[in-house]
Amino acid sequence: MANDTNRFQAIISHCKEYGFIFPSSEIYDGLQAVYDYGQMGAELKKNIRDYWWKSMTQLNDNIVGIDAAIFMHPTTWKASGHVDNFNDPMIDNKDSKKRYRVDHLIEGHAESLKTAGKDAEADALLAAMDALLAKDDFAGLKQLIEDNKIKCAVSETCNWTDIRQFNLMFSTEFGSTVSSDAEDNKVYLRPETAQGIFVNFLNVQKTGRMKIPFGIAQVGKAFRNEIVARQFIFRMREFEQMEMQFFIRPGTQKEWYEKWKETRLNWHKSLGIPAEKYRFHDHVKLAHYADAACDIEFEFPMGFKELEGIHSRTDFDLKQHQEYSKKKQQYFDNDIDPATGKPYGNYIPYVIETSIGLDRMFLAVISQAYEEQDLSTEEKKDSRAVLKLPVKLAPIKLAVLPLTKKDGLPELAEQLMAECRPHFRCFYEEKDSIGKRYRRMDALGTPFCVTVDHQSLTDGTVTIRHRDSMEQERVKMSEVRELVMKAIC
Ligand code: GAP
Repeated sequence: MANDTNRFQAIISHCKEYGFIFPSSEIYDGLQAVYDYGQMGAELKKNIRDYWWKSMTQLNDNIVGIDAAIFMHPTTWKASGHVDNFNDPMIDNKDSKKRYRVDHLIEGHAESLKTAGKDAEADALLAAMDALLAKDDFAGLKQLIEDNKIKCAVSETCNWTDIRQFNLMFSTEFGSTVSSDAEDNKVYLRPETAQGIFVNFLNVQKTGRMKIPFGIAQVGKAFRNEIVARQFIFRMREFEQMEMQFFIRPGTQKEWYEKWKETRLNWHKSLGIPAEKYRFHDHVKLAHYADAACDIEFEFPMGFKELEGIHSRTDFDLKQHQEYSKKKQQYFDNDIDPATGKPYGNYIPYVIETSIGLDRMFLAVISQAYEEQDLSTEEKKDSRAVLKLPVKLAPIKLAVLPLTKKDGLPELAEQLMAECRPHFRCFYEEKDSIGKRYRRMDALGTPFCVTVDHQSLTDGTVTIRHRDSMEQERVKMSEVRELVMKAIC
């Protein structure tokens, strides 16, 4: 494939063509930065979600999962700091009226410098931007944009407004009464799932009799009014987060922060994705709640970008909720402090957070899996698009393909379907040539295809074809289920 832009476009087209992702309400020309998951995408997304959920909850005795509501009491967002601080600096082009997030505008320019081979210039620009962002120096940022003659992509002019802050939260109204004060009824669509965990900290701790250190995990929708929402499902206005808040004793945050960095990187690597596709990026400008933070970046087709955040959130959130709700958010720790010989006693726990976007993880998985292969020989031209998905994430695990539609082959194939269906997702297909059926399954990422042929009728064996190597072997039909089960685990 010519370059990464083409590769990214090919992945987006593949997602649409094979039922993974569609633009939202496409018959009305779509809605910017909102996407629907199709029949294959919903399965793949669910498998990623389940893999995360299992690794967090089932495999950690001290982490439990909850499912909090999207709507929360509006004071939640005052307390968490989102009403006052969840802003992005934006700049408008006066000629095109197009609005840009300042960091995205500068990053876009740096990318074009890199494409032109001016790597050092691009790096210097990004370093200058990071330093100015860290100081909230908006005048300096505007100067940087002007000095670098960064143009609007639409008007192609440098006629910029001053930089202003825009809040990213969506709001709506509760109830049917029209209030004279709209603020009375205003509720927000949560911009992060984490606050649903914080406000339930004591509910879970008490009812679950949890002892520190312990974690609460959650998967759910979050909403942000991203001004520049682009790059497919990388940055959306409605997306899903998989977050875990790990409650710890104050003073132990450095050690837990390092532990969770390592644990999360190992989770990514456990999917068989090469280690060099990941890197850590420490935050220069810390969010209002953090005393340390980093991203796990992944090499997407458009370069290394944030996939997951790991944040040491101190006791900021619980302290704020205690102050705003006037309800104590303390934990009594009866373990003995070796320094004093007495119990640690009451305190507001510190928190390490791991936060990953499910949709971003989907994009990472599918872009890593996508391959176009030239299979031409001297005799004929041939190629295939294949999704080399980790077996445990593949939407369909096994395709059962009778060679013909007659001679009792469909009936025998149905027997295999009946045996496997309760254990994993199978797919039955009798249309088209076997070659075409294999290609379609490759494109969906199905790791195993079984062909039931005339020999199967006499000796009970079938051909199993492996997606990645395309190798085929003859196995007993009675062993297929076990073979696939082993590969899923
Ligand atoms: N609770 C902390 C928090 O929300 P964040 O870094 O703003 O931190 C965490 O978001 C993760 O959520 C990101 O690493 C990313 O994977 C995902 N995410 C954030 N904004 C997103 C968006 N607009 N579209 C898709 N995923 C997004």
